[in-house]
Amino acid sequence: MNTSTGTGTGTGTSTAPVLRAEAVTKRYQLPVTVIDRMRRSAPTALTALDGIDLELRRGEVLALVGESGSGKSTLAKILVGSVTATTGTLDADGERVPVHRDKDASRRIQMVFQDPYSSLNPRISVGSMLRELLLLHRIVPRAEVRAESIRILNLVGLEEDALDAYPSQFSGGQRQRIAIARAIAVRPDVLIADEPVSALDVSVQATILELFARLQRELGLSILFVAHNLAVVQHLSQRVAVMYLGRIVEVADTDELFRNPRHPYTRALIDSIPRMGAESVTDRLALQGDPPSPFDIPTGCRFHPRCPYAIDACRTTDPALAPVPLVLGTRPGGTSAVSTSAAGADSADAHVAACIRSAELGDVDPLHEPAIEPDDPALTRPDVLLDPERVVESDLDGVAPAAPAASAAHHQEEPSA
Ligand SMILES: Nc1ncnc2c1ncn2[C@@H]1O[C@H](COP(=O)(O)OP(=O)(O)OP(=O)(O)O)[C@@H](O)[C@H]1O
Ligand code: SF4
Ligand SMILES: [Mg+2]
Repeated sequence: MNTSTGTGTGTGTSTAPVLRAEAVTKRYQLPVTVIDRMRRSAPTALTALDGIDLELRRGEVLALVGESGSGKSTLAKILVGSVTATTGTLDADGERVPVHRDKDASRRIQMVFQDPYSSLNPRISVGSMLRELLLLHRIVPRAEVRAESIRILNLVGLEEDALDAYPSQFSGGQRQRIAIARAIAVRPDVLIADEPVSALDVSVQATILELFARLQRELGLSILFVAHNLAVVQHLSQRVAVMYLGRIVEVADTDELFRNPRHPYTRALIDSIPRMGAESVTDRLALQGDPPSPFDIPTGCRFHPRCPYAIDACRTTDPALAPVPLVLGTRPGGTSAVSTSAAGADSADAHVAACIRSAELGDVDPLHEPAIEPDDPALTRPDVLLDPERVVESDLDGVAPAAPAASAAHHQEEPSA
């Protein structure tokens, strides 16, 4: 029987990578039509991923964030093995993951998809689905399959009677719980969640985020959580990796990233989070224009056509991810300051950014006041983060941070957070 502790006892966070991608690229060759040939100029290949280095540490939630088309799903699919990288390597627990994974290698990295409606087979009951998986991967003896299935359902906030039901009998949030149950049933080491809340009602999103946080705590799962909105992962993830046009452009602990973003793109993503009672948006860094085409990636720093801090060197220098330097500088008003950034001596690689001006764009740059204060009331309310327009300003007065509901009644719409 499988002895992995994936859905057993929890483990603490360590810095040993449970999954590591190195120099991963993905190029898609597109079919060429006769018209394309006649035009000659039509592009025939695009670069979805361009040299990705990323580590998922054991027991952590790492958020992967970026605009649409930045390559998040492509990377997620490569990590889970459903898409093959053009070049690059993957290691799990320090061992090379083969291109063609065997049953056990596949079991260890599971995926939760964005759309809980299409990701479940409507003709198979929840009980049959779990039974099939538990037997296929020999998770428990046959006689214990039903008890184990109930245990898994309880872990995701569902009751025993869900065993006999079919996906169509559940609400969207409950279907996503079932999809999560399917993923954790085989006791994976790693869960890759590709925008698992973005297809759900706003009122349900916080309950599913809370479920991921609980699974990390209770099972010691390592989770890569893909989102296009930084606000969604603020309370869930320990670290954040920011993606832009096929590259990772910044990685840092979540608090450090929000306080002290060192890449202008990250800063713009943070500034784009609507916040209650925030000052005028005019002094924020707005993100201009659409991302460039992956068919035609800009020279130098790929962000330079949209970057308000671009200088001539940015058009020719393609910056690699590098530890952000300590900032020595002068605060507005003339006082000297030394940054005590998290990228200190003990954690030299804790905060990395791909920007030749990352030192200047630190927390003492006159143009860069700390992006978000941790006690900003908007950041203590998951429901505000998820849908700022639903909460009027007076709702925040004197209200303690709200804990989202942890579970939902089976076969009924889930309650609002
Ligand atoms: N099978 C494919 N064939 C050709 N191009 C593809 C394929 N899959 C993805 N792409 C392209 O690769 C780039 C990255 O796509 P990907 O789906 O990974 O982005 P994403 O960050 O997940 O975006 P979204 O937030 O919209 O889900 C896009 O330009 C996309 O059009
Ligand atoms: S390298 Fe230049 S263009 Fe790129 S993010 Fe930094 S300042 Fe902007
Ligand atoms: Mg995607």
